[in-house]
Amino acid sequence: MSFIRVRPAIMDDIDMVIAINIECLPEHYPLSFWVEHLKKWSDIFYVAEVDNEIVGYALSRIEEGQSYFKSSYIKMGHIVSVAVREKFRRKGIATYMILTLLNSLKSIYGAEEAFLEVRISNEPAIKLYEKLSFKVVKKLTQYYLDGEDALLMAKAL
Ligand SMILES: CC(C)(COP(=O)(O)OP(=O)(O)OC[C@H]1O[C@@H](n2cnc3c(N)ncnc32)[C@H](O)[C@@H]1OP(=O)(O)O)[C@@H](O)C(=O)NCCC(=O)NCCS
Repeated sequence: MSFIRVRPAIMDDIDMVIAINIECLPEHYPLSFWVEHLKKWSDIFYVAEVDNEIVGYALSRIEEGQSYFKSSYIKMGHIVSVAVREKFRRKGIATYMILTLLNSLKSIYGAEEAFLEVRISNEPAIKLYEKLSFKVVKKLTQYYLDGEDALLMAKAL
């Protein structure tokens, strides 16, 4: 039986996180993006390990803005990127990482909501977020560089 662990990312994990990002998603970022995120928000940047091998990551940042559910200005967690290597999917790993992330967004930063953007064609991810009670709050037309629309999904914490 495999041992699955979710833990905060550290600098030594960055190469593997970048490799997983390139393998799993069309949105890539420079090394400085990952390093800055880790320096600033190390407690809301998680990796998942299976038998001590990193197989996925989930990172977020804190932003302030208009609530998606009420008429006030609030602190929100922006889930920026999530990926799990193909061989390790449908085992609950993304769910485990995101639930851990949501808990930290609320307990460490006092975030009142979490939100994210997802490609309108990305059915697995949309299903995952719906299962975690995220709601579609907006469509972002031509959000991605290739012209695809995004759904903005949000959840009260
Ligand atoms: C989306 C992604 C992160 C899901 O990771 P995962 O570890 O497989 O997700 P989980 O096992 O936690 O899935 C939880 C639920 O999400 C839904 N789901 C996940 N993958 C799905 C798929 N391929 N088809 C339909 N529903 C899916 C299901 O409801 C699933 O629950 P179930 O397995 O009990 O039916 C993974 O497919 C991935 O890395 N995709 C490529 C990168 C990506 O699209 N990232 C998100 C960008 S916004």
